[in-house]
Amino acid sequence: MTQSWTPASWRTKPGKHMPEDYPDMAALAQVEQTLRGMPPLVFAGEARRLKGLLGDVAEGRAFLLQGGDCAESFKEFQADNIRDTFRLILQMAVVLTFAGGKPVVKVGRMAGQFAKPRSSATETIDGVTLPSYRGDIINGMDFEAGARMPDPQRLLQAYSQSASTLNLLRAFAGGGYADLYNIHRWTLDFVNDSPQGARYHELSEKISEALTFMAAIGVTPESQPDLHRVEFFTAHEALLLGFEEALTRIDSTSGDWYDTSAHLLWIGERTRQLDGAHVEYFRGIKNPIGLKCGPTLDGDELLRLIDALNPDNEPGRLTLYGRFGHDKIEARLPGLLEATKRDGRSVVWAIDPMHGNTLTAANGYKTRPFDRILSEVKSFVEICKAEGVHPGGVHLEMTGQNVTECLGGARALTEGDLADRYHTHCDPRLNGEQALELAFLVAEKLKDDRVSKALLDRI
Ligand code: PEP
Ligand code: CO
Repeated sequence: MTQSWTPASWRTKPGKHMPEDYPDMAALAQVEQTLRGMPPLVFAGEARRLKGLLGDVAEGRAFLLQGGDCAESFKEFQADNIRDTFRLILQMAVVLTFAGGKPVVKVGRMAGQFAKPRSSATETIDGVTLPSYRGDIINGMDFEAGARMPDPQRLLQAYSQSASTLNLLRAFAGGGYADLYNIHRWTLDFVNDSPQGARYHELSEKISEALTFMAAIGVTPESQPDLHRVEFFTAHEALLLGFEEALTRIDSTSGDWYDTSAHLLWIGERTRQLDGAHVEYFRGIKNPIGLKCGPTLDGDELLRLIDALNPDNEPGRLTLYGRFGHDKIEARLPGLLEATKRDGRSVVWAIDPMHGNTLTAANGYKTRPFDRILSEVKSFVEICKAEGVHPGGVHLEMTGQNVTECLGGARALTEGDLADRYHTHCDPRLNGEQALELAFLVAEKLKDDRVSKALLDRI
């Protein structure tokens, strides 16, 4: 770890889950060279701003809401999809802010979430074996030899799609769509006539009343431009390091290196080896970063990873996403929380209740039961509370679309419903209604937390 770092020094380390079978390595190198000449997607100052906000989360003053597709795809690239997930995040943030009484830092798993680690390098159907689908930035999903061949041109398409997505997100966030006075209009059509829709309308009614009162005392969007816009950030798993390296630039204002492909990047559960390529790459970029923490991680290993990734103990630099499974969190999380607390490490503790709760239904669909997702989030809040650690946030795979990929929720989706609208390119996502329901239930849990804290403070 003491060797000097460059954006390319990861190439000297073993790297997992990156394709080695490009048919033409020279073509790949050429595409990476082209990307080096492309404009950055985000500005270092924005990444620093997010780091500051996450510093507030680390210190218990704010909450992180991060969500979006498991895998973005070229096929589902449409303005409506981007808008629907964006407004779902806004709705959920309103619910969580109202209950928690704390600002919610909004991060989309969007505008760059294209590369996927896979449990198996190959897939076999009816006796035919082909390389696995690894995300649209690498190969195609169709089960056909040509599609499954890694294609360097896909890096350019992913860059271009990320740029357009980010452009629209910036327009929505700053151009009036996210104006708090529009709160009633953020609802998704199919959620509108659900119990969650009714609850949301009740809440937006209260907020509208508060806004009317504020306007009466002179607090208007004209005097407070922040009522007009939201701060919205992007994030993805930085898995395909050749792509990330090409977008790593020196920030002229600080002289530091930033990965300008997104504001926040994270290391996945399968690529967090201390001596591996991903940890090497991440230690040198100054963005806020994340690390997935699964059930095999122990406290000592976590502290060694933190030594490498946040040696200066900078608040907001490192977010840890627990992803254990509803039945493992109680055994695994307390030891990790104790380790970071005992050692005085400033980190954000968040929960990814999706990846430890995946199962295959009898009809072959990969799915996730809503109850298990909810149960892992509730356990997270309770365990954090017991350990005296701030339950800092949630990281969800979700979409504003009316898909049928996760079981349960208020409409009690069954295995038989999965086939109706199962569109994900990778893992099953909560649909808009399930995600909003989860936000309400988490909000209740956080509120309990707030009430019991207020009681405790009084004793
Ligand atoms: C993911 O976030 O889609 C993912 C693959 O998660 P994990 O690294 O936690 O398995
Ligand atoms: Co996933």
